[in-house]
Amino acid sequence: MKNNKLFLGFREEGETVTLSMESLQKHIACFGASGSGKTVACKVIVEEVARAGIPVIAFDPQGDIASLIHPEPDDQLLEGKGIPAGIRDSFAQSVEVVIWTPGSSKGLPLSINPLRFEDASGLSVEDSLRFFSATARNVAGLIGYDTDNDEGKAAESALTAVFEYCAARHIRMSSFMELIDLLTDLPESINNIIRPVMSARLMEDLLRKLRLMTMGSRKLIFETGYPASVEALLGLDRTGTSKTRVSVIYLNTLGSQEEKEFFMASITQMLYNWLLNNPLKKGQDGLQALLYIDEIAPYLPPVKMPACKESLMLLFKQARKYGLGCLIATQNPGDIDYKSIAQISTYCIGNLKTNQDLSKIETRLEAMAPLRVKEILSQIPALTKGNFVLLSPDEFSNEIKFRIRWLVTRHDVISEDQLSELTPEELRNKYKLTPKKPEIQTRESFSDNSFGQPFESEMAAADPTKKPTPEYDNETVLVADHALFEADLYKKIRPYLPGNFFGLIKYEKLMSATFDYLPLIRADMIYTRRKSWFSKQMEELPLTLYLDYRSMEIVTISKRSIRFKAMTKIEPHKIEDFDNKVHFIEEKRDKTDYDFRKLGRKLDKEEVKTLLSRKYNVSVSNIQLVLLPVWNCQLAHRKSGTQRKLQLDACLGFCVSKQ
Ligand SMILES: Nc1ncnc2c1ncn2[C@@H]1O[C@H](COP(=O)(O)OP(=O)(O)O)[C@@H](O)[C@H]1O
Ligand SMILES: [Mg+2]
Repeated sequence: MKNNKLFLGFREEGETVTLSMESLQKHIACFGASGSGKTVACKVIVEEVARAGIPVIAFDPQGDIASLIHPEPDDQLLEGKGIPAGIRDSFAQSVEVVIWTPGSSKGLPLSINPLRFEDASGLSVEDSLRFFSATARNVAGLIGYDTDNDEGKAAESALTAVFEYCAARHIRMSSFMELIDLLTDLPESINNIIRPVMSARLMEDLLRKLRLMTMGSRKLIFETGYPASVEALLGLDRTGTSKTRVSVIYLNTLGSQEEKEFFMASITQMLYNWLLNNPLKKGQDGLQALLYIDEIAPYLPPVKMPACKESLMLLFKQARKYGLGCLIATQNPGDIDYKSIAQISTYCIGNLKTNQDLSKIETRLEAMAPLRVKEILSQIPALTKGNFVLLSPDEFSNEIKFRIRWLVTRHDVISEDQLSELTPEELRNKYKLTPKKPEIQTRESFSDNSFGQPFESEMAAADPTKKPTPEYDNETVLVADHALFEADLYKKIRPYLPGNFFGLIKYEKLMSATFDYLPLIRADMIYTRRKSWFSKQMEELPLTLYLDYRSMEIVTISKRSIRFKAMTKIEPHKIEDFDNKVHFIEEKRDKTDYDFRKLGRKLDKEEVKTLLSRKYNVSVSNIQLVLLPVWNCQLAHRKSGTQRKLQLDACLGFCVSKQ
């Protein structure tokens, strides 16, 4: 065990207060009303632990932990607070703070694929069963089930059965699409397990909920960024640097509480599995890492059992024997499941006023310092900012009243917009996925799309250092109303697959599909033509044409295909396209889930006008950007395994092809 003492602050008399690493290994909780100084206190502990060479994973729900990345530049300020500048220097020199952003490229993008079961391969039967049911509960919670009621439990058991089936047969699932596929066509052995608990209606509902995960912004948390791994979070995947990593997981980039819970549960489960696979070596004791969760209340509710609560409780219980210290903070000790934190042996209590909170603490105090309960309780409501009562019976026989030291890093809120500057290019490069190029590209836009993993152009498009073009803001876009869902793709795609003479057997199968938009340009115009071949009389026909956004080729539809043509002999009013077939809805750009930076360049309306009026005798009145929803399908030949891609529009179910 490293003999480091953590320098926490000063007693009233000025004496320094330190805490041993052993105490940390038995977990610390920090309580106090909002503004009492909890986050500062916890960040002091993080600074000290990281300075001692122990990596930290910190969940940041409010954006004020990320500022650990800025060492305090003001020596005088530190001196005034009684902190030697050397502490700051040792932090700055030996610690690397990394800010991960789930489902977003603002910081270092971090993604989670809950269907990756590689982690489970080394686990005992019991641990892997627990892992599958926890993953099932986590996925069920994410897609909107209340896992405490019957429907949620049924969905959870169905998913558990499928996950166990896949793991036993080494079936790798890389997307929700594949899970949907499996659930739609269940093998008999799982069907027998699921049928008694799932009605057809419940199964339909489960499939519908899963389908929503494959669309729009929700799928970003599975697809945007580096797949989370404990090695990366703890910085064990590096070479050539001895810096200790502090990984801050910035939760504000996630839109909903379900997503935050999902992330928390996934990472705690991952961490637990990692600990099982990396126990302390014989004779080794001490801390391998610290997990810090600020404002933990929503993740540890008193009655409900979200997946993250289950995983957190397991972690609190088991972590110390694996050398993982847990540090949690909450302003509402009354709003957390108190039993679940019975494992915690050190408490740092700041100002608390409500009776509900005080009575919760009282039960814990009775166990820890039975003779001092009244005395301590009387002090708590009078504590001012930064002042705490420290209780750690294993280390100190009495409680200690102290003032937390000030930080050697800044304490402010880092907004999402500031994150891009705080992520060095070399880190971005390191955690950029090596993209796999598709073998066949049917259309240019294909290279923008990910099949499981983002391609280079997508990463570049999502690069926050490339600011979006300001002209795009608040403008509207036409989005085609679409009705083709992933589950229907199997049917819709069949006509495009090679097969035997009767078309009953298809030689290719659909492996996966990702949803995206194809950018097009819509131009409204008046076409002036002679009324008839012999007549001199002219007539004006209003019409609409669509062009490919990049090549500006004209869209035509024929034989169930959407084609693009630079030249066509057909008169413009006779061109078959989306008219009367597809309904377009006008939307504010920021309401769509399309990343407009992918367009590359801005829509040049003049250029479109010139191009069209050169082709036809038209005068263009209106030009608008259109998003055509499409499915990018990955196909594989059943025998040879050769893969190819096919793009289907999500409105008509027609194939999008260059020729
Ligand atoms: N040791 C300290 N010395 C001076 N001011 C402090 C100290 N600890 C906290 N504060 C003040 O209290 C404010 C709130 O602290 P913070 O830790 O963010 O509160 P909480 O997390 O409990 O809501 C800080 O911004 C700071 O101004
Ligand atoms: Mg706080």
